[in-house]
Amino acid sequence: MEKEIKRTKIKELLSMQPGAEVVAKGWVRTKRGNKNINFIALNDGSTINNIQVVCDMKAFDEEMMKKITTGACLRVQGDLVESVGSGQAVEIQAKDILVYGTADPNTYPLQKKGHTLEFLRSIAHLRPRTNTFGAVLRIRHAMAFAIHKFFNDKGFVYLHTPLITASDCEGAGAMFQVTTLDLNNPPRNADGSIDYSQDFFGRMTSLTVSGQLEGELGAMALGQIYTFGPTFRAENSNTPRHLAEFWMIEPEMAFYEIQDNMDLAEEFIKYCVKYALDNCMDDLRFLNDMFDKELISRLQGVINTEFARITYTEGVDILLKSGRDFEYPVSWGVDLQSEHERYLVEEHYRRPVIVTDYPKDIKAFYMKQNDDGKTVRGMDVLFPKIGEIIGGSQREEDLDKLNRRIAELGMDTRNLQWYIDTRRFGSAPHSGFGLGFERLLLFVTGMANIRDVIPFPRTPKNADF
Ligand code: 4AD
Ligand code: MG
Repeated sequence: MEKEIKRTKIKELLSMQPGAEVVAKGWVRTKRGNKNINFIALNDGSTINNIQVVCDMKAFDEEMMKKITTGACLRVQGDLVESVGSGQAVEIQAKDILVYGTADPNTYPLQKKGHTLEFLRSIAHLRPRTNTFGAVLRIRHAMAFAIHKFFNDKGFVYLHTPLITASDCEGAGAMFQVTTLDLNNPPRNADGSIDYSQDFFGRMTSLTVSGQLEGELGAMALGQIYTFGPTFRAENSNTPRHLAEFWMIEPEMAFYEIQDNMDLAEEFIKYCVKYALDNCMDDLRFLNDMFDKELISRLQGVINTEFARITYTEGVDILLKSGRDFEYPVSWGVDLQSEHERYLVEEHYRRPVIVTDYPKDIKAFYMKQNDDGKTVRGMDVLFPKIGEIIGGSQREEDLDKLNRRIAELGMDTRNLQWYIDTRRFGSAPHSGFGLGFERLLLFVTGMANIRDVIPFPRTPKNADF
């Protein structure tokens, strides 16, 4: 018996010299031709490019050929030959075709090209088979890999922080509760409130909004750590930049002051963008041509640009002097809205901007307090089209100041003693930040809606798939 030929991925086939007999496996993108000859465009997800399969119709059973329609899955064996048509260097002259799975043309939703992104969201289980989502998901993978490589090369430790938590890191209260209590009949205390001591963890718990607090514990032992995992926010924000479940990268470094933190953030983003340009060009070129003609030049621009660095107070001054009629009026003390952030980035500086020293009242309890008594050493990195891509700060390492801030905010310290302990035992200056992974992907892919850079988005009123 002849030895079975192993499958070669299409990405590799397309870079091979003609001559060998090969096996390709993948899904049909299109089939065209006449009664003598058929051309099948086959894609297996290894690259945005298809391999052309040429079928001499005399050699194949007509009934079998009819089953080959858009979406069907095939095994194709044949000779890799030089392509006579334009558009590809090689193609497969088919000798044997096996149909693994058919896709009924009357019901398979991905027939024609040019479906709207909105429609594709409603078929998120099939959209990875489109060129667009293939490209986005390969880039998403490459960025995840680049992030691990960046920190690994710098000697950071990847720390796994818990997803279920009893503390609220950002203090925004936008948390999803985790419980196994019977919601129709929960156990109650004498005063009628719910008795969480009978819940699974013996207390009230939620999904985490950030791994930072545990990340700080790691940095105070290992020196430099990062987290990279899902985080959850129950904010009812139905915008193109918010998800209820998103992935965040949170580095935390002992002995880093705010300047060091900014330097690392800038280096980190540039590294990721450069990695995409160096490793994902086929996919970027496709997205550039399809959606955003300035994508690649914007990416190249960012790696060669120094980010502007300003204080919140300077930013507010610029906004006040802009003469703009913002939907949300600006004054010192208000949180910057995305229209303000975008004005600073896209119109005033025309490059990424790092804003520092925010009013303490609009930032979380853990940020290092400045001597002015009004501002904290926070930093947000603002990007064109996206607004805030990174949020971070130097942390308050002084036990008394931290305790005073916690009391001022009326926070419950029972769930935070372990965190406060780091300031009691061997406290040190330290800093960190959080990069929203999907916000980075919005920038790198040029997609306009955050629902289109994660395989299965979770947003208010939507947990399909
Ligand atoms: O600014 P945030 O809330 O900061 C923190 O969570 C800190 N604990 C980070 C730290 O210092 N370790 O969130 C950080 C980033 C934002 O800049 C944004 O990119 C992203 O997370 N982000 C979201 N991305 C998608 N959907 C949402 N609902 C997001 N909320 C924040
Ligand atoms: Mg923030």
